[in-house]
Amino acid sequence: MNYRILGGRALTGEVTVPGAKNAVLHLLAAALLTDEPVVLRDVPDLRDVRTQLALLEALGKRVEPLGEGTYRIAPGRALAAEAPSELVRQLRASFHVLGPLLARLGEAYVPLPGGDVLGPRPVDLHLRGLEALGADVEVVEGGVCARARRLRPATIALPYPSVGATIHLALTAALVPGTTVIENPAREPEVDEILAFLSALGAPARRKGGRIEVRGREELGGAEHRAMPDRICAGTYLLAGVLTRGELTVRCRPWHLRPFLDTLRAMGVELRESSEGVAVRCEDLRALRPVAVETEPYPGFPTDLHPPLAALLSLVPGESRIREGVFQDRFAYAQGLSALGARVRIRGREAIIEGVPQLRGAEVRVERDNRAGAALVLAALATEGESLVRDEEEQIPRGYSRFAETLRSLGADITEESLIATQPREEGE
Ligand code: EPZ
Repeated sequence: MNYRILGGRALTGEVTVPGAKNAVLHLLAAALLTDEPVVLRDVPDLRDVRTQLALLEALGKRVEPLGEGTYRIAPGRALAAEAPSELVRQLRASFHVLGPLLARLGEAYVPLPGGDVLGPRPVDLHLRGLEALGADVEVVEGGVCARARRLRPATIALPYPSVGATIHLALTAALVPGTTVIENPAREPEVDEILAFLSALGAPARRKGGRIEVRGREELGGAEHRAMPDRICAGTYLLAGVLTRGELTVRCRPWHLRPFLDTLRAMGVELRESSEGVAVRCEDLRALRPVAVETEPYPGFPTDLHPPLAALLSLVPGESRIREGVFQDRFAYAQGLSALGARVRIRGREAIIEGVPQLRGAEVRVERDNRAGAALVLAALATEGESLVRDEEEQIPRGYSRFAETLRSLGADITEESLIATQPREEGE
């Protein structure tokens, strides 16, 4: 899909963000832990979610869409021990089915994951953790084969608070009778969603003294769960409101966005918080102040808001810096932003952004990272003139459901064009 955008229009109104992608993908993997039906609500309409649902069906689950973002996942055929590579390669979170399948079946094979290309994305912490739980793990032909006659509870010390490893190991431990402890776990709110769901399934899981404790059981029951609102979508729309000099209210959980909101305040953005969400308004970007930000594991500044923040900083006078502390390469947006007139330099793991008074319309391409795609759309919304954001890899729909439709409802002039319909623009057009 491509996005044709006529920039320069202020966004105004209210946004209700969908359920959080980075909770729902893992809640879906958790459905493999039980033979009882589970019902998930506020499941966002995203490409990655559709991939994960297809994976559950391929593994034997029956997936019933009940409408309005609600899905019932129930037993279907006997669970398969092998995850199909064409699905796993599309989505990193699909790798997390390895532990649940291993706990259910005693053996499992899952290809090494695909998904956002943000530098090397090893799964060594996942595999070491499964071994600590008693699994024999072997990497064969681009995939991982895990076997275990009987998994045993363990204390797993993570050298880095990996979100994926924390969730993957908590999911697995839910079916290991006894108490498993994860030390130095990730503190992202999405992890707490998974712990709450595991507890609802019958395996009490909680944070205690900076660790996570999971009291696993032989068998788990069913449960219903409504996903938390997507804090990264919320931050992305708030940034859209600021850089288009608009006035926007986003219904979300402000306490999930503390360092991000503190950064906007440090820039001089006018914002109001309530238990319902956050309201922003901005009349003049030139009145904003540059900032230096480092992305870190929660509760630090979230890496997923690095690219959209860079779009805003492109228009803030002075020199801003974003140091990427989580992924090796989160700079896929830089080339596109530069084509739109931004002054961005990448030095090592830091983006140095010199604010410019105006961006200009251009044709740009989304590459590798769904958050980079959102950043280019946001920058195009702020330019004077027309831009074309080419998203041949369909990155944006991976992380943002109904993105163009939502932006249009706020006053943006953005239309979606199928890849076929969009001819390359003639030179000098
Ligand atoms: C999750 O990725 C999210 N994805 C990411 O969102 C998010 O950016 C990231 O957490 C950080 O918050 C999902 O939840 C589906 P990590 P994940 O394991 O689990 C290294 C988006 O745009 N590492 O905390 O992959 C890794 O290489 C996506 O929505 C190891 O070295 O994050 C990276 O440098 C992008 N070995 C760092 O840790 C391991 O075994 C953070 O990875 C695992 C990770």
